Amino acid sequence: MLRSLSSYMAERRELVEDALERFLPEPGGRYSRLTDAMRYSVFSGGKRLRPILAIAAFEIVGGEGDAMLVPACATELIHTYSLIHDDLPAMDDDDLRRGRPTCHREFDDALAILAGDALLTLAFEIVTQEDVLAPERAAAIVRELAGANGYRGMLGGQAADIAMEGELPDIGAIEYIHGKKTGAPLAAAVRVGTIAAGAKSIDMERLTKYGEQIGLAFQIADDLLDETGTAEEMGKAVGKDRGRGKMTYPAVVGAESAMIRAQELVDDAIRSLDAYGERAWALTEIARFIVNRRN
Ligand code: IPE
Ligand code: IPE
Ligand code: MG
Ligand code: MG
Ligand code: MG
Repeated sequence: MLRSLSSYMAERRELVEDALERFLPEPGGRYSRLTDAMRYSVFSGGKRLRPILAIAAFEIVGGEGDAMLVPACATELIHTYSLIHDDLPAMDDDDLRRGRPTCHREFDDALAILAGDALLTLAFEIVTQEDVLAPERAAAIVRELAGANGYRGMLGGQAADIAMEGELPDIGAIEYIHGKKTGAPLAAAVRVGTIAAGAKSIDMERLTKYGEQIGLAFQIADDLLDETGTAEEMGKAVGKDRGRGKMTYPAVVGAESAMIRAQELVDDAIRSLDAYGERAWALTEIARFIVNRRN
């Protein structure tokens, strides 16, 4: 059977879009400026990589039914919140995201802060309110998402990313930043899919390794695309990291070594899936996509 990653991703993206539509507040209503801002940022054409990873992890360990849709959407809500805040003037100060004005440019700073907060809290609300997940799995998913996106994970990485602007290149620092700000949430996306399927701890171990490695590779690729991509492809400004003195992977080790490192991580990630044979197809192709993508 000829399989293509793009149709695999498109099918799952559609499931995610439909589910997100169910979880987001309807347009209009009393607090419509806030809910408009939430919808504006969520429904703006992201790749939906994190929910697709959650679904693919669920599938590889034999998960059945649609118990993975809630955690999958939760990862996307949290991701979108992190982008809204990342773009604020107090952080990366960006005007373009997903091909449109950033949330604070379209609305204002206050609404962007609040829309981000609202998406983060909504993520936890949907995981605990939908009854497709057994309570102990829902609790484990909440713990996972909170840990990976909190001070020990994404937020810790974001704080270090800002603190290290203008500092001298440091390989230890960049691995720390990237592992936390991007690696931890991506690994969590894989892990929540695995938890939703009720997988064994050996599966969790293998898939965690996979998730951490592709997570780091993903941010290295993002840094490289900031130097080689176009705003049109990326839907966001490019060429800004150097100007801001960001500690990026290519700034620390050079573009060529950064590319080699990303490729090595992807190869290692794929090797962690050896035990799954044919079933590893989708996660293998997603890992390759992460370093070959143009957006
Ligand atoms: C951008 O993530 C932020 C990083 C972690 C580098 P994506 O490249 O997945 O952004 P969307 O969701 O497709 O817009
Ligand atoms: C952001 O990293 C990672 C997040 C946790 C949001 P970047 O600042 O490099 O992401 P982009 O390039 O703005 O998408
Ligand atoms: Mg940033
Ligand atoms: Mg940014
Ligand atoms: Mg970037």
